[in-house]
Amino acid sequence: MRYIQVEPSGALRGSVHIPGSKNSSLALLAAACLADDVVTLEGIPALDDLRQIAGIAQDIGLDMQRLDNGDMRLDPRYIHSATIDPGKASAYRASYYFAGALLAKFGRVTIGFPGGDDFKSRPIDQHVKAFQALGAKVTFQDDYYVVEASELRGADIYFDTITHGATVNSMMAAVRAKGRTNLYHAAVDPEVVDAARFLNQLGARIYGAGTDHIRIEGVPYLNGGTHSVIPDRLVAGSFLMAAGITGGQITVTDIIPEHLGSCIAKLREVGLEIESGDSSVTAYGTGNVKAARIRTAMYPGFATDLQQPMTALLLTAKGKSIVTDKIFPHRFNHVPQLRRMGADIEVRKESAFIKGGRPLAGGWVHATDVRAGTCLVLAGMVADGHTRITGVEHLERGYTDIIGSLRSLGASISLIERKSDAGSRESDCM
Ligand code: EPU
Repeated sequence: MRYIQVEPSGALRGSVHIPGSKNSSLALLAAACLADDVVTLEGIPALDDLRQIAGIAQDIGLDMQRLDNGDMRLDPRYIHSATIDPGKASAYRASYYFAGALLAKFGRVTIGFPGGDDFKSRPIDQHVKAFQALGAKVTFQDDYYVVEASELRGADIYFDTITHGATVNSMMAAVRAKGRTNLYHAAVDPEVVDAARFLNQLGARIYGAGTDHIRIEGVPYLNGGTHSVIPDRLVAGSFLMAAGITGGQITVTDIIPEHLGSCIAKLREVGLEIESGDSSVTAYGTGNVKAARIRTAMYPGFATDLQQPMTALLLTAKGKSIVTDKIFPHRFNHVPQLRRMGADIEVRKESAFIKGGRPLAGGWVHATDVRAGTCLVLAGMVADGHTRITGVEHLERGYTDIIGSLRSLGASISLIERKSDAGSRESDCM
């Protein structure tokens, strides 16, 4: 059995390097299949999903190696298969990016349905709609789907909703299509811009990424190249919240502060003092957290991924807070766990209603997804006694070394691996 044990930690202090973005990396690794030569990606974090991707890469013939300097080298020249094992595809969410990339390169892909964090409903209809608009036929089977096209042709695609995943996937599918593709109502997330910058570096012609209209002029060939992944704004935001909840002072370094705009604004609103540098942000917890209203939105709005750690922070505010998530209205699996710790919080429809200021008590809780896990870790740092969090694998999917980083800031947190009833082993890092 593996669990994270957290104890009251006092004020966390220090600075922490923020690794490359998980969500951007997952797209870039699949996008590397589109190249016709070797690609080097700098800053890809050591995440658990990489194991799934390595398995997929091996099956299709994408040579993928972590170099001694930490860079990831991908050689797509010998890809011999566009069939992805359903079990591997459904082991994580972003496997759908292989659909766009392999369709564009080979005109056919067979792939399992995406898995990942369970927020009840996570449709892929907008991905499918885009593939069809480009001329592909999509056939659904029990545990996989096939996307095929004798030729992909540019098209005008109007997304019904703003989606980060479908915007990136459509960009990949369209990059080698014949003619011009226009994506309207596109997501403007930094990860979309990062994918476009990477592909353009290889010779793609993508214009307007970062606005809601992206134009793609298809090209027949993509070169190899080198690209550095953007820093993880969601990891950075979580550490700033750790400063708030513990009344400490944390500097997140090697980041792009503009990516954290809405997070910083909300942290100031709840009473944190924030200083921004060129590539760092420092949060000062004042010990006086104010209640607030949070509504998640697509970038540049307040990220759905940060509403869970933010909820932990709002538990310490005096007064009533409301957190509403319309992006993933069921992303509240952390709430029953917080109630077990004594929180006064309840969910109605797509909102969590929080009465802050009630003391929290440690105990056994379960992390059901990566950000729910972050929320429980933060809550554990201000709860009485030991908080023991199972579902460690979810945290490992999103953070390279959350335990090591928090310990370096003074947190009392460990990974416990209990082999049997006979004894347990404590690790310093994951
Ligand atoms: N949507 C559709 N149809 C689609 C695709 C999305 O209706 O075909 C809806 C979703 O249900 C949601 C909204 O569009 O309401 C936005 O979904 P989006 O496509 O942007 O999400 P995603 O690509 O499934 C990525 C991240 C999530 C992050 C969201 C925020 C990856 C692998 N995942 O998911 O990250 O919360 O964007 O938009 O990039 C996490 O890191 O913890 C995480 C879950």
